[in-house]
Amino acid sequence: MLKFAVLVSGGGTNLEAIFREIEQGQITGGQIAVVISNHSEAYALERAKGRNVDAVCISPKMYQNRDEFDQALLNELKERNIDYVVLAGYLLQISQSLIEEFKERIINIHPSLIPAFCGKGFYGIHVHEKVLERGVKVTGATVHFVDSGMDTGPIIMQKATHVYGDDTPETLQLRVMEECEWIILPEAIKKICQGKIRIDNGHVIVED
Ligand code: GRF
Repeated sequence: MLKFAVLVSGGGTNLEAIFREIEQGQITGGQIAVVISNHSEAYALERAKGRNVDAVCISPKMYQNRDEFDQALLNELKERNIDYVVLAGYLLQISQSLIEEFKERIINIHPSLIPAFCGKGFYGIHVHEKVLERGVKVTGATVHFVDSGMDTGPIIMQKATHVYGDDTPETLQLRVMEECEWIILPEAIKKICQGKIRIDNGHVIVED
């Protein structure tokens, strides 16, 4: 049984989608061992508590400096024998030491079709604001492995949806979540549990 740590910063709708797929038996061979947030008030932590899953706040505010915070987060994951780390709406940059310790074992959900609308400043609702500003007709979400860049790691899965003329950033964000994020993040975790994902020369191969 693979042990997953899900890192969150906000409402946790992607976390909820993972819980749902586990409870419906779609994801087998893996469990969410802990949910960790940098915000003590993150509703995502309440979602974990409601399922008797360990919910932990590890925030930079709790430590003297960023290095101590980074070390505390890494220690928490190692002490729990975590196999994979899932960034689900987690807004802090992951430390280089964590990336090295969990090489090719950290995945992230990003609310656009990478390489479009990603990188510094492209997070949450801001992504959808830029999508509408640019006038693209298709957008979506991407699950990728995390490397030392920002939204630059090998792409695992993507799913697209339409952009409509009367969309607002909020209506678009909800559609991308409902039709893309909440589908491909659990699906990627399912494939990891099935051992059906591998990286070949920097490209991800996902078996059917
Ligand atoms: C969403 O926009 C998601 O795409 C991004 O973080 C935001 C909040 O997600 N990764 P959640 O509701 O906390 O899962």
